Amino acid sequence: MAKMERDDASSQASPENLNALGEHALSYIEPGFTVGIGTGRAASAFIRALGRSAIKVRAVPTSEESAALARQMGIELCPLKGEIDIAVDGADEVDPQLNLIKGYGGALLREKVVAAASRYYVILVGEEKLVTRLGERGLVPVEVLPFAVDLCISRISALGLRPRLRVDNAGKEFFTDNGNLILDCVVDPIADPENLDRQLRAIPGVLGTGLFINMAHEVLVCRRDGQLTTLKRNARLGN
Ligand code: A5P
Repeated sequence: MAKMERDDASSQASPENLNALGEHALSYIEPGFTVGIGTGRAASAFIRALGRSAIKVRAVPTSEESAALARQMGIELCPLKGEIDIAVDGADEVDPQLNLIKGYGGALLREKVVAAASRYYVILVGEEKLVTRLGERGLVPVEVLPFAVDLCISRISALGLRPRLRVDNAGKEFFTDNGNLILDCVVDPIADPENLDRQLRAIPGVLGTGLFINMAHEVLVCRRDGQLTTLKRNARLGN
């Protein structure tokens, strides 16, 4: 999947730190759970840890890429039907209220559906993803219907954002697993992310935004020295 890279590799969490996050996230998983599995490096570390563990679960994947990895790791997959016990995913930005920007990996639409269907939503990030205000890394990905892309570009521009069509490594339009396009909207730090999300979603042809407001219950952060810390909202597993 074409990943929108904003940082050089040296500022990203190391594979060891991502593995530590993935392993730690296993402590949230109980046998028999239905588990939403996210997309990206952190989510993949969790999927590999889950596959290595003896915990028997059924997983709802958020992308074809995660489905393939889960299959390879021997994890049973199931379609989205009703509630999910817990979903584990990565994020591109996390603010102090645990609001997120997601979608640099292009899987935001299914990720948001799975997050919304989950009783508990856990995010795994390296500390480079922590921001004071959403938008600090400069982008909000928005998934749009190809038919409506020009209208979406003009309406999003009218909101003061600068939408750019995502392309793949060959310079061709990048299509999501759902057959849609991504507009990477260049932003300054966002004063009111909830309102921006509402405005974007009101545009005909916008199918989903990378703004995940009030969705994450817990964020596990791996510091550069490998230390893990937990940021929580007021919610409990099973609520
Ligand atoms: C996929 O669309 C994204 O939302 C990812 O969850 C996000 O980009 C985090 O990915 P990494 O863990 O690879 O940074």
